[in-house]
Amino acid sequence: MASLHQRHASKHGVRPGAEGPLHVGIIMDGNGRWAAERGLPRSEGHRRGMDAVRETVRAAPQFGVEYLTLFSFSSENWARPDAEVETLFGLLRVFILSDLAELHERGVRITLIGSREGVPPDICALLDEAERLTSNNQGLRFLVAFNYGGRDEIARAVRRIAEKGRVDPAEITPELISQYLDTAGVPDPDLIIRTSGELRLSNFLLWQSAYSELVFLPIYWPEFDRRAFEAALDDFRQRKRRYGGVTASAGV
Ligand code: FPP
Repeated sequence: MASLHQRHASKHGVRPGAEGPLHVGIIMDGNGRWAAERGLPRSEGHRRGMDAVRETVRAAPQFGVEYLTLFSFSSENWARPDAEVETLFGLLRVFILSDLAELHERGVRITLIGSREGVPPDICALLDEAERLTSNNQGLRFLVAFNYGGRDEIARAVRRIAEKGRVDPAEITPELISQYLDTAGVPDPDLIIRTSGELRLSNFLLWQSAYSELVFLPIYWPEFDRRAFEAALDDFRQRKRRYGGVTASAGV
């Protein structure tokens, strides 16, 4: 029978043990600084960041990762100059147009998380097509967090619950809220990686990261590669996950 600890973990959408991780979320930070340190335009940093995205999506299933969530445009990134926002949108367009067929062939299932509000209609159409084409694939589940913010996601979930009509306050539980998030049905991230040396979550998967292990890497996102990915996974595997409990071997 499952231990209380295991039942507690599964109730919260997290898995016991640290053998995985099954779900990895990545905050891809430092494209701009990588470019600035080389005297290059920020757009070149984003372009090189895209190559790192390709390598990461390719490596993830080889490392046993079943769910990969990449933070590609935050709801706060609208504050950047228009030209940079356009560069980031352009990269997403290029990515879908040039890589979708190959991702589909490799069995990757793409899911968008985030708000469609303010996103150019042609990008929404491309994203819809990517989700539709890959919806029955059984390989890596690739969640692209685009125009995404954790607080916004929670607010949209609560709004959708309220839209159901009269809600009994007793029905509002963490499990119910989870079912209305953009990530409904996806296990919580076991591991969140952030590059660039910054030590914060910046509104990424706020609800889902309650028990995630965090790994902060002192490299910029364009430098992230298979080796860095593997090192982060090795670091994760050394962690003892307790989900608020104590380890099995601990005395009373
Ligand atoms: C952070 O670097 C990176 C971003 C805001 C965008 C990341 C986007 C990509 C790598 C390309 C598109 C991705 C997909 C999944 C198609 P920063 O600009 O904040 O760097 P800085 O903090 O050094 O200025």
